[in-house]
Amino acid sequence: MEHLLGPLTRSQSNALVGRITEHFLREGFGFWAVEAPGIASFIGMVGIGIPSYTAPFTPCVEVGWRLARQYWRQGFATEAAQAALEFGFETVDLSEIVALTVPGNARSRAVMSKLGMTRTAYDDFDHPLVPAGHPLTRHVLYRLSKEAWLRTRGLSRTLG
Ligand SMILES: CC(C)(COP(=O)(O)OP(=O)(O)OC[C@H]1O[C@@H](n2cnc3c(N)ncnc32)[C@H](O)[C@@H]1OP(=O)(O)O)[C@@H](O)C(=O)NCCC(=O)NCCS
Repeated sequence: MEHLLGPLTRSQSNALVGRITEHFLREGFGFWAVEAPGIASFIGMVGIGIPSYTAPFTPCVEVGWRLARQYWRQGFATEAAQAALEFGFETVDLSEIVALTVPGNARSRAVMSKLGMTRTAYDDFDHPLVPAGHPLTRHVLYRLSKEAWLRTRGLSRTLG
């Protein structure tokens, strides 16, 4: 969870890259490095992954993102996440992809909504990797089924 709780040290960053690499080798997908062509070769990471913990909604595949601050608010997270969802639904053939965050992360929740993901309060949960009582323990869960994704995609293609 350290990647959600603040800046990473170099050793935390290296350990995270190690876990992401293992995930790619094991599952065939994971969190990709994001390039903004003509702007920067590496602006952050976006991808799909299998959470390592147990919760009411696991086993599952989640979509997630983290971009360097200077690249926020330009649509990059949404664009990259759309590509990750396409890979998850079309190549991996997943039936559902979820996303999770703390209730106060309005930017991340806005990305989830823009992706067509929906949240019900029934799915709210205490993250098992965050200590009980910590301000970031409570999480909201967003879901997107393959059927809903195909509908959203058809609509966006129709609208051009
Ligand atoms: C979450 C994050 C990836 C969003 O990246 P981004 O490139 O800014 O996302 P987008 O530009 O695609 O969309 C952001 C949307 O957030 C909304 N938004 C932006 N600022 C906002 C604010 N202060 N309050 C509420 N909503 C806001 C807007 O709707 C915006 O969409 P719009 O530009 O079409 O209006 C980025 O903020 C980040 O890396 N944060 C730190 C890591 C993190 O929180 N990761 C998620 C952990 S669950």
